[in-house]
Amino acid sequence: MDIALVGPGRAGTAVALACVAAGHRVVAVAGRTPDAESTRIAAARFEARVVPVQFAGRGARLVLIATPDDAIEATAAALAQSLEPEALVVHLSGSHGLAALASITATRSDVAVGAVHPLQTLPSPDSSLAGAWAAVAGPAEVTDLAATIGLRPFTVDDACRATYHAAAVVASNHVVALIGQVERLASAAGAPFEAFEPLATAALQNSFAQGPKAALTGPVARGDVETVRRHLASIPSDEQAAYRALASAAQRLTGRDASEPSEVLG
Ligand SMILES: NC(=O)c1ccc[n+]([C@@H]2O[C@H](COP(=O)([O-])OP(=O)(O)OC[C@H]3O[C@@H](n4cnc5c(N)ncnc54)[C@H](OP(=O)(O)O)[C@@H]3O)[C@@H](O)[C@H]2O)c1
Repeated sequence: MDIALVGPGRAGTAVALACVAAGHRVVAVAGRTPDAESTRIAAARFEARVVPVQFAGRGARLVLIATPDDAIEATAAALAQSLEPEALVVHLSGSHGLAALASITATRSDVAVGAVHPLQTLPSPDSSLAGAWAAVAGPAEVTDLAATIGLRPFTVDDACRATYHAAAVVASNHVVALIGQVERLASAAGAPFEAFEPLATAALQNSFAQGPKAALTGPVARGDVETVRRHLASIPSDEQAAYRALASAAQRLTGRDASEPSEVLG
């Protein structure tokens, strides 16, 4: 397929590279502006022409919309009239469903729309999609597209899309934020940050292998209330809110209705 990449940033380039590896071709790149750095880099990389967003659909069988979430609707509206008959337009957002492409479905009954959200953190355009799952929406060809670029597709109802994306954010961004707290507390205690890697990695692996409840160890799981109290007395005040919130979540996981830890955690 000939592909137009609209929004040539991290996710768009990573998915376009996977499409190229699967035998497709990126023929056009449309960015925020024609001379934006990400536009120029992607166009050179794919040896594709730079086009304005409103002409991005011309000559493309597949249009990938990989702009920031908040720009998807306006981008879809801008390029709708340039689409070729039988084209497929897909966005990469986790939080939006097909409604974000409503301006296309309303005016172009001859094209198909879909969503492919790679369930992977892509911090750079060269990030790998290998092994990642993907939430898909739309006709069967969207599922096929995800599968051909090595993603493992599953469907999420449009109505549940925001909840699904919240889970994805917790699984990636919040885990990273939590490791930031590990780094700060380790530093405050004079312990090497890297010493916590096997601990964190095993906890994550156990959570998926055994389920979170079975994987939970530590003072909350044991009911060691005094240990929790000592932690709270020792850590800086600006670390306490996150500690309390996660210790409460751990307590919820145990399924116990223990009033004393709740009092300690506030
Ligand atoms: N990164 C991830 O981990 C990840 C994972 C899965 C899904 N996604 C989804 O992928 C999409 C893109 O995210 P990203 O992280 O790749 O963002 P990103 O790296 O910021 O890339 C966004 C790209 O869109 C361009 N752009 C911004 N506004 C535009 C507009 N109005 N018209 C055309 N191009 C525009 C940006 O240009 P400039 O460079 O000039 O700003 C940039 O090239 C989002 O829907 C996101 O939810 C991201």
